Amino acid sequence: MTEPAEGSGSGSTRTGDLLRDGAERLRISGSETPRLDAELLLAHAVGVGRTAIVAHADAPVGADAVRAYRVAVERRAAAEPVAYIRGIKEFHGLAFFVDSRVLIPRPETERLVELGVAEVMRRLGARGSVFEPMRVVDVGTGSGAVAVALAAALRRLNALEAVEITATDISDDALDVAKANAVSHAVADRIAFALTDLLPPGTADFEIVLANLPYVRGDAMAQLPPPTTFEPTLALDGGPGGLAVIGRLVDRLPSVLAVDGVALFEIGADQGDGIVGLIGERLPGWSCSVETDLTGLPRVARVARA
Ligand SMILES: C[S@@+](CC[C@H](N)C(=O)[O-])C[C@H]1O[C@@H](n2cnc3c(N)ncnc32)[C@H](O)[C@@H]1O
Repeated sequence: MTEPAEGSGSGSTRTGDLLRDGAERLRISGSETPRLDAELLLAHAVGVGRTAIVAHADAPVGADAVRAYRVAVERRAAAEPVAYIRGIKEFHGLAFFVDSRVLIPRPETERLVELGVAEVMRRLGARGSVFEPMRVVDVGTGSGAVAVALAAALRRLNALEAVEITATDISDDALDVAKANAVSHAVADRIAFALTDLLPPGTADFEIVLANLPYVRGDAMAQLPPPTTFEPTLALDGGPGGLAVIGRLVDRLPSVLAVDGVALFEIGADQGDGIVGLIGERLPGWSCSVETDLTGLPRVARVARA
């Protein structure tokens, strides 16, 4: 019997061959980014960065890493998101720990963070020497992406001491992940976490309310792409019309938002008119404008007393 020559196919444990075989397996299984997925999974199995994997096609890979890589490729072939397999997702320049207890943070949510940071900085600039901390809340924090990225960005701007950040979620499991991310980015002492429906009862006077709550239309849940079905339903299902959960938070704004406060809600690209209509109906006399994302699509609703 003749052993396959090294590098001649699926028996090879050279980086380039493993990538080629893995990418082919993922292409057949329907991944839209088979080569990238294979590179990320092999880098994770080997314990190095993706560039090292791409740059060293001839490098041999150890038996344990090959086994781990093959298991990871099969998980991905069954549609599990790469982020859950690796346990990591990059968001706003930070690495977040993620697993199936939380939504994988999306790049479009970085817009919400940027608007939040800009709002904090604008308000601090206008306050002069008032040292009362500014109260900011991230409602539906999930992995902690928004609250932790906001805190990290404000620390870089020397503004973290000026804010008091609360992060809430109705899922205890999600809060465990958010707390772990706050610890790994050294902002745990700057964020108060609360297990609650939207906002803790009796809270008030938030200057900035940030929220990326579920907004997928209930009747669209059955048509989600297969990787999305691995994510918590609680993080996605926005009820009939998609704005039911956001609508309940809107109803609470008059009692929780400071007089000159602002609420920033992430919305779906097709929900710009819907949110403007909802605010007009539920909060007559308030203002609602819609900010677009980098692709020019509606992404964040800005709501305030007019
Ligand atoms: C779309 S995910 C967003 C997670 C994170 N903020 C992000 O941007 O990646 C929505 C989050 O809201 C939480 N959630 C859903 N309904 C909620 C409610 N009534 N009160 C508080 N959190 C809620 C879910 O558990 C989930 O973590």
